[in-house]
Amino acid sequence: MPAFVSSILHPKNALRLGQLQRLTGLYRHNSTKPYYVTTPIFYPNASPHIGHLYSLVTADVFARYNKLKGRDVRFLAGTDEHGLKIQKASKVHFGEAGREKEFCDSLSQRFRDLGKKAWISNTCYARTTDANHKRAVHNIWKDLDSKGFIYKGKYSGWYSITDECFYTDSQVTTITNAKGETVTTSLETGAVVEWCSEENYMFRLSSFRDALISYYSSNSTSVYPPQYRDDVLQMLGAPAQGSESSTLPELADISISRPRSRLEWGIQVPGDPDHTVYVWFDALLIYLSGAGYPWPSLSSEAPGLPEGWPADLQIIGKDILRFHAIYLPAILLAMSSPSPSAITSSPRIPLAHTILTHAHWTSEQKKMSKSLGNVADPLASMDQWSVDLVRFYLMRIGGRWRGDVDWSERQVDNHSQEIQSQLGNYLLRITSKKITKRVEGVEPSDGMDSLSPGIQGVFEGVEPAETDYNANLLTLTRALPAKVQTHMDTWEVACALDDIIHVLKYANKAVTAIAPWSNDCDPQTVLETRMVGLEAVRVVGGCLEPIMPNTAQKIQVMFGIHENVFGETGKADAVHGLKAFWDRWHGRKVDGVKLFEIQK
Ligand code: MSP
Repeated sequence: MPAFVSSILHPKNALRLGQLQRLTGLYRHNSTKPYYVTTPIFYPNASPHIGHLYSLVTADVFARYNKLKGRDVRFLAGTDEHGLKIQKASKVHFGEAGREKEFCDSLSQRFRDLGKKAWISNTCYARTTDANHKRAVHNIWKDLDSKGFIYKGKYSGWYSITDECFYTDSQVTTITNAKGETVTTSLETGAVVEWCSEENYMFRLSSFRDALISYYSSNSTSVYPPQYRDDVLQMLGAPAQGSESSTLPELADISISRPRSRLEWGIQVPGDPDHTVYVWFDALLIYLSGAGYPWPSLSSEAPGLPEGWPADLQIIGKDILRFHAIYLPAILLAMSSPSPSAITSSPRIPLAHTILTHAHWTSEQKKMSKSLGNVADPLASMDQWSVDLVRFYLMRIGGRWRGDVDWSERQVDNHSQEIQSQLGNYLLRITSKKITKRVEGVEPSDGMDSLSPGIQGVFEGVEPAETDYNANLLTLTRALPAKVQTHMDTWEVACALDDIIHVLKYANKAVTAIAPWSNDCDPQTVLETRMVGLEAVRVVGGCLEPIMPNTAQKIQVMFGIHENVFGETGKADAVHGLKAFWDRWHGRKVDGVKLFEIQK
């Protein structure tokens, strides 16, 4: 054995398994990369609102779904604690400067508690005030600086504290506000901006335009839905299809620091106590520091891979697309490139696979704002409707991502009723005393062979007659996990819910048409209706698990069955065949439970 290997295997020098795997490259061969999903880190300048819960639930749905598919999952959420916005909010709150950490500790905890209450399964809760994050920011800054990606320059332009964003002249307008004052505001967000002219550190964003255009043009799922990828290409000034000339002037370099005299609350620029790192440069790096960056340099081929990098999925709102789709990828490319004149097209530290971008929630058809008093409170909503019903509503209405959607009590009520009646009441119907009584003691002499030809045919791929409700419901049920999986793999959560609701609607229609509680219904049909109905609830519950984990758990406990439907789709008869179906339900005692309890 080579001396190097025997030395690291010696108990005295024992390495943790992960270190050994990285050193030897075993990881890539023996294990797959963890699935890594992130939410934006929230500004802890006020209490969480429904938009924050939406980000968390969206990420959680994909985290849980991928876990069910057998992936090791890393899921980052957290808070973005530096910058003028927090510095100002803290000062207003305490009436004095310098208490930002105390302010963030308390508000960051509220976001953490929101996640706990909503059954969010994040594996990491990262804060930009954490020491390891500060180390990562310094490390990356120094690396980029040493390679010539950072220079000191004069910045003159506009800055919005609300947006924590620099704007150019063409991005602002002058208006008269409600108080009759003339103010300059961002055209995009309407936030007030202030003029600044200062010496800042600049990042050579302009060097990355071609690399980014080429990356986004050739990666169709780099930003999803496609409308947002088009937006990114437009921001980059990519030539419109069929035309050679670009639509915008060169991508400008960006300012990545503020003078300490203006911004005290932040990470100091390495080696320059007079400058504070720009809050977005700091915040975007949380996705790396939260995945263990700086990674051991020896794992040079794919650093960060064992910890999950690159992110498989980043959830963001449409307002922060530029930061995630242009600034962060440019920083990552810079980390992997030797100099601004030699930008790599195959970065050692790759870009995130997909940025899932969503539109916004309005409240009662208006932009949520404190002054309008229409900010939807996620904690109160979960108290009122329960965690799962709120999660259901967020995904049923918000799971298409494309256009703004509205939060209103009436709508939450309507949609809660939809799932309560289609699933909750259906379960109570098929487990009712009347039906249970009619199947007790019914013991077909031929066992599973006594099942009707229609039901048996389902397992042989025979298309049922239109009037054979049970066989049709069973066919729909058996096809559901694969359909849901297709939608979830393409981030179309609302489409998955459409398919789930479709099966439930058919189940309700079927049970009404069959009327198994009636004495006119023969005992064999009652037995089959119950078995097929229970199977439908089991499979629907399994498909809902990423979205409504609490409900799925109740169903599993009630049935005493903990099979994973997403693991099932590829499996053959042992789980999916006629015998499995028969064994699962025949003679099983089920006491139907109330799945949803609403506090009015
Ligand atoms: N701190 C930055 C993100 C830094 S990530 C490195 C930030 N924070 S935020 O708290 O203002 O917003 C967090 C997320 O909530 C963003 O994705 C934003 O789009 C989203 N939402 C804010 N208002 C929203 C709605 N009304 N509706 C849906 N999402 C909303 O931006």
